[in-house]
Amino acid sequence: MRLQKLVIASHNQGKVAEIRDMLARFDVEVVSADDLALPDVEETGTTFEENARLKAETLAKFSGLPCLGDDSGLCVDALDGRPGVYSARYAPKDADGKRNFDKAMDKLIGELNEKKTDNWSAHFSCVLALAVPEQETKVFEGRVDGRIVPEKSGNKGFGFDPVFMPDGFDKTFANFTPEEKAKVSHRGRAFAKLIEDCFA
Ligand code: IMP
Repeated sequence: MRLQKLVIASHNQGKVAEIRDMLARFDVEVVSADDLALPDVEETGTTFEENARLKAETLAKFSGLPCLGDDSGLCVDALDGRPGVYSARYAPKDADGKRNFDKAMDKLIGELNEKKTDNWSAHFSCVLALAVPEQETKVFEGRVDGRIVPEKSGNKGFGFDPVFMPDGFDKTFANFTPEEKAKVSHRGRAFAKLIEDCFA
């Protein structure tokens, strides 16, 4: 499949920035849902795949362009996989309507402390859905295992990055450069599969 223009079906600037970086070396014009003033798609699915498909297929229909939906989230073992598909909504909203992830991380650490458990293991999952008008949607998945740390650290990345330490490293994702994060992250791993399929 030859992609010339790709719409990222997300209004999450952190996510869009990572996706732009991952596709920078390919000859494809990447535009975001914000760039095209496309509507927000309500995430009514109960799995990452359902939501990724929903975002990509809705905006592909709306724009007539190939669209990439990314649904991702943090699954914490001691919380039975929560917040999972509800990771964005786990963050309380500030007065300006923006999600506050600083408060979300405090809430998460508070929940784990209350559980009085030593098991702070967690993973990030990412499902990418590539919807091209008149074609079958393609789906690519990635996952990274690690643990939640009790102190936030680092100022790079977005979302829960300051409290997530991937297995095999002694620093949180918020201390990784974008290139380092892309090599091991859930999104980087899902993208490696997409790139193999669409750009190799
Ligand atoms: P959604 O896929 O737009 O529903 O949002 C996913 C949410 O999961 C984000 O708002 C973040 O809170 C969290 N998340 C997904 N990927 C990452 C990541 O790479 N780092 C940190 N948080 C992430």
